[in-house]
Amino acid sequence: MNLFEVYPLYNVTPIKAKGAVVWDENNTQYLDLYGGHGVISIGHSHPDYVEKIAAQLNNIGFYSNSIQNPLQVEFAKKLGVISGCENYNLFLCNSGAEANENALKKASFITNKSRIISFKNSFHGRTSAAVAVTDNSAINAPINLQQKVTFLPLNDVELVIHEIGKKDVAAVIIEGIQGVGGLDEGTKEFFQEVEKICNKNDVVLILDEVQSGYGRSGKFFAFQHHKIKPDIITIAKGMGNGFPMGGVLIADKFKATYGMLGTTFGGNHLACAAGISVLDVIKKEHLIENVNEIYNYFLEQITKIPKVKKMKGRGLMLGLEFDFEVGELRKQLIFDKHIFTGGSNNKKLLRILPPLSITKTQINQFINALKELLNE
Ligand SMILES: Cc1ncc(COP(=O)(O)O)c(C=O)c1O
Repeated sequence: MNLFEVYPLYNVTPIKAKGAVVWDENNTQYLDLYGGHGVISIGHSHPDYVEKIAAQLNNIGFYSNSIQNPLQVEFAKKLGVISGCENYNLFLCNSGAEANENALKKASFITNKSRIISFKNSFHGRTSAAVAVTDNSAINAPINLQQKVTFLPLNDVELVIHEIGKKDVAAVIIEGIQGVGGLDEGTKEFFQEVEKICNKNDVVLILDEVQSGYGRSGKFFAFQHHKIKPDIITIAKGMGNGFPMGGVLIADKFKATYGMLGTTFGGNHLACAAGISVLDVIKKEHLIENVNEIYNYFLEQITKIPKVKKMKGRGLMLGLEFDFEVGELRKQLIFDKHIFTGGSNNKKLLRILPPLSITKTQINQFINALKELLNE
């Protein structure tokens, strides 16, 4: 059987990884400034994480969501404390798209409405409603286009007021910081106004923190830079450090009924062990403090490279903007300098999403490589 070829692949074969370093089959060492789309939070194969998952697997790896699972309770408690979101209830699932799918479904149940407001250049996943609220017609099939979605430009409060005034909107969904789109984000004022309008009109405000959450922005959630309280928050990527996990944090005012949401695999024992270990390491190693320290260092260094026209994003969710398309530069970084970086919808933007534990020495390695490639 052949693979269904939906991914254009770089000719690199990682077989081992540790922290922010990845090795291929020839023992060539790569610096990972991309974390496989922002997934690696505490570093590849962190020893605590490996130990915790291995121990769990030796006890019980999986049982369905029809029995008591104290690991889910422990995970939810720890997540509530570290995120400052103790007044939310947690639904566990398996991916970012699934988290958004359930968030949108819950919002529609709550309001008994179906139209969703999303934003230009957004990305929320590839499944039914998640892809429908994603601003990319190339990945929406006719079946997805049946959903009622209105895409608005970021930061235009009047348009949000106008659309919500039509009284058929179930939810507004917005990324804390746009990832795939290219690191644009709402202003503080915009987030605060949207929160107000949603509250006033009983529209559910969903914050997609799948990529921008888990400390990546320098706070646990990117929306916390704006001092708002969303109704629903979705999480995934950094949550399991590579173990597939997703979650929906639902404000306490919204009640659950049996069967309203559900999954076979979500919140299984192994996933919870991975998730607990990630939270423990973030706390023990002060990784969010490290994100802020490295951000300041990165900014200081990058401003010394004139060909970088702008640095977008926050914390370790960054975009370096050039006045040329970066496809060739990314290839040179991988094949000549052995450094992984990412791209986005904005072809002139190099995306940087390293493990939250990255060091200044590793940032220097990147800065020096970039200077050499750009002749600066
Ligand atoms: C903001 C955002 N939401 C949702 C998703 C979808 O997550 P997944 O690929 O785990 O389904 C992504 C993935 O890139 C994302 O960046």
